[in-house]
Amino acid sequence: MPDETPWWKGAVFYQIYPRSFADASGDGIGDLGGIRAHLDHLATLGVDAIWLSPFYRSPMADFGYDISDHCDVDPLFGTLADFDRLLADAHQRGIRVIVDFVPNHTSDQHSWFAESRSSRDNPKRDWYTWRDAKPGGHPPNNWRASFTGETHWVRDDTGQLRPRFGVKAGGDVHASAWTLDDATGQLYLHEFLPEQPDVDWRNPAVAAAMFDVLRFWLDRGVDGFRVDAVSSVGKPIGLPDANEKLAMIPGGGLTDDAFVFDVIRALREVLDGYDDKMMVGEVHGLDAPEIMRHVGTDKFHLAFNFPPMFDRWRADRWRRHIDETEAGTQRHDLWPAWVLSNHDTPRHADRYGTQSRARAAAVLLLTLRGTAFLYMGDELGLIDAFVPAGRRVDPGGRDGERAPLPWTDGDRHGWDGPADPWLPFPRNAATHNVERLSRDPRSILHLYRALLAARRGADSLRTGAFEWLAAPHTVLAYRRLSAATGDERAVIVNFDSAPAHVDLDGDWVVEVSSTMTGNGEAWTGEVASDRAVLLRPAGVRG
Ligand code: GLC
Repeated sequence: MPDETPWWKGAVFYQIYPRSFADASGDGIGDLGGIRAHLDHLATLGVDAIWLSPFYRSPMADFGYDISDHCDVDPLFGTLADFDRLLADAHQRGIRVIVDFVPNHTSDQHSWFAESRSSRDNPKRDWYTWRDAKPGGHPPNNWRASFTGETHWVRDDTGQLRPRFGVKAGGDVHASAWTLDDATGQLYLHEFLPEQPDVDWRNPAVAAAMFDVLRFWLDRGVDGFRVDAVSSVGKPIGLPDANEKLAMIPGGGLTDDAFVFDVIRALREVLDGYDDKMMVGEVHGLDAPEIMRHVGTDKFHLAFNFPPMFDRWRADRWRRHIDETEAGTQRHDLWPAWVLSNHDTPRHADRYGTQSRARAAAVLLLTLRGTAFLYMGDELGLIDAFVPAGRRVDPGGRDGERAPLPWTDGDRHGWDGPADPWLPFPRNAATHNVERLSRDPRSILHLYRALLAARRGADSLRTGAFEWLAAPHTVLAYRRLSAATGDERAVIVNFDSAPAHVDLDGDWVVEVSSTMTGNGEAWTGEVASDRAVLLRPAGVRG
């Protein structure tokens, strides 16, 4: 029987932030040529697909999430021909490529906005949201714009400085989500920076133009999209004031879900006109069931399961997130997507505080039931860069996790110039670079490679069912099982630093500690980190 499992189900995606992956041109900013030159790193790692954060034409107010031409490559990153070459080379290695789709806003330099702002009766005026000020010059509602607050740097439990946005003891300091445009005397709406005006998806001409953007990239051969900030397209009719406490959330937290689902369905229709494409949505929600409402046969294929990413490294928390995710997906035959880090959040090796936790987290991420998303550098156990005040460039305080990837030993780490890299390297780049970790078979890089290989070789891990095994409260233990082939794996992750004993199947006790590898009658160790082990039944070759 042919395997009808879609390619993205159980796949491992690797997110590339193009500015910081690799620099082929020598200007200190990563580019498409740099990605193409390092595809072998990704092939050796064993990922199924890459997701490219925006590389489109952009004035870079939000480092590419402010797009001035959706259908061209920014000269910083190369040309459309460079993109085609990258896509062909990736496909040749069996690596699929998805690209970022930013539906909610454009750059203020986009030709659509230039037309829209030019006069009140321009045909594109209502592609964006324009309103008169309220009496006294007040903005049309109380919504605030993201990334416009002051960033305060606060030390967390691990002693690291972390950005806190827009909140002072005295209250909210974000700017209004409305900016006055002198040309016509009206204000336009932007849930993010003033340089990112929001388009109006209730206007069918906007929707049609955005569908054309999807088709442009689908026709070039991309395998799908990561859809940015999708809830923002669902602005409530009438744009009412938000509860003052929520006014800082994009759209004041007043999302019209029914409308968002309509937009997602329409995007899905475009994708379904092609073979084998997929979309993963950036949806922020309280818990997995809320997020999973955006996923389905006529909605997104996947949506990032963010709540665990914003939580701590604790077994009880993860147990709850996994239970919620299993409940929110199994009931409707949906498929989860796990992620620990991305370009908007401090890296998890930093958040969790130790390399040993980062290794255990790798075992967890890559053995849960679902598709896994790695952020570039996860495989190196990278932590954030320290970015001194004079070098901070992101209005959202996210420079630390966007630091350049260290490829080699030595000061330049493969960013050989002439120009210096646009941001400082991660704080552990001297010890955690690709060259050095490749040489050490016990490194986190080799752990990632082994986990990906195990996943490729075991359909239980890729698409099998999930079942808890009894374990002490500081340990998560579970079994993955394929009904189709009977293939079975057991995973034990110890969140504590003290050794833990897990009774597996009542016939064998695994000690999960710094020296663990399983070696019993029924189970044998396959991939081990110092706090986690992946086991397979004895006698089965992985
Ligand atoms: C998403 C992106 C983030 C960007 C924002 C506005 O949250 O991940 O990087 O700044 O949308 O487009």
